[in-house]
Amino acid sequence: MDLQRLARTVEEALERVATAPDLAELDRTKSETVGRRSPTIQARRGIGSLPPEQRRAVGKAINEALRTLRGAIQERRAALKIEAENVLLEQDRVDLTLPYGRPRRGNHHLLTTTMNEVCDIFRSIGYQVAEGPELELAWYNFDALNTPPTHPSRFESDTMYVESPGGEERSGPDELLLRTQTSPMQARFMEKHPPPVYVVVPGRVFRTDTWDATHSPVFHQIEGLAVDSDIRFGDLKGTLAYFAKEFFGARTRTRFIPHFFPFTEPSAEMLVWFNGEWLEMLGCGMVDPNVFEAVGYDPAEVTGFAFGMGVERLAMVKHSIRDIRHFYENDLRVLGQYR
Ligand code: DAH
Repeated sequence: MDLQRLARTVEEALERVATAPDLAELDRTKSETVGRRSPTIQARRGIGSLPPEQRRAVGKAINEALRTLRGAIQERRAALKIEAENVLLEQDRVDLTLPYGRPRRGNHHLLTTTMNEVCDIFRSIGYQVAEGPELELAWYNFDALNTPPTHPSRFESDTMYVESPGGEERSGPDELLLRTQTSPMQARFMEKHPPPVYVVVPGRVFRTDTWDATHSPVFHQIEGLAVDSDIRFGDLKGTLAYFAKEFFGARTRTRFIPHFFPFTEPSAEMLVWFNGEWLEMLGCGMVDPNVFEAVGYDPAEVTGFAFGMGVERLAMVKHSIRDIRHFYENDLRVLGQYR
């Protein structure tokens, strides 16, 4: 083989090495370019038959060619190994940072949160929490609460009456209805517990109101009742003003204005100064002696105050919610904002 051909052979071989796509092909290339039967090795064997003055130069060229080729093959082998490993790694890859199917963390409905907050405030000053039935007797919803049969809130235009399960006619105190307020629990609670009483009652109430931005036929109230041997109007004001500061913030101002409720005398409405206005927050008053009589308490022995507030109203004022219907439409985009 002359030196020119050798150079060409080496060039071709280097090209094959550089482009060998995998280790098997590289092995084949190796045996064909530097293996025992490769042209270069054959040529080395033939050196002896060359004229003596050529041998040295050809021998040197062939050895160099072999060194170059072996070096190139080694390099290519290393590169192919890394490539193969990378392919394996890529195929086996587990991305630990990928998000997995984590369940969305839920939260209480804002009405539940609000009721819990209010109940906690009163619990912290010694009140207990009780609940009562939503299907109620007119006696507890009205009569025991000093509300006469002719009172307009008893009309069907305000109150949802319910047929008795046996279908029998009921009238007056025996009529069944969906409670229009949580106040009936005042009477139920006092019937079961001797004084002193400090209790709050969260619950659902029902009225024949038409669904609009500020009315719903179903809403929630929290009732409160404190009865003891010497409770005065100052206790009512102090307790409810304290509640307002705890619920709306320490600097909250309150005002009490006269009102009327059948079951309290005197009665009042508590207003809260919020965002530049006086807002009606709740009804309250000193428990009417007639209520004590209706539940078997002696009005000469005890006095007390009561109050009732709308949960939706509290939440709407505190969180600047403009439409009561947001509470019931169960849109998670709304409900998820109140965690
Ligand atoms: N039950 C009344 C209502 O539904 C609210 C209320 C007012 C409750 C005065 C009371 C109270 O206990 O003393 O509007």
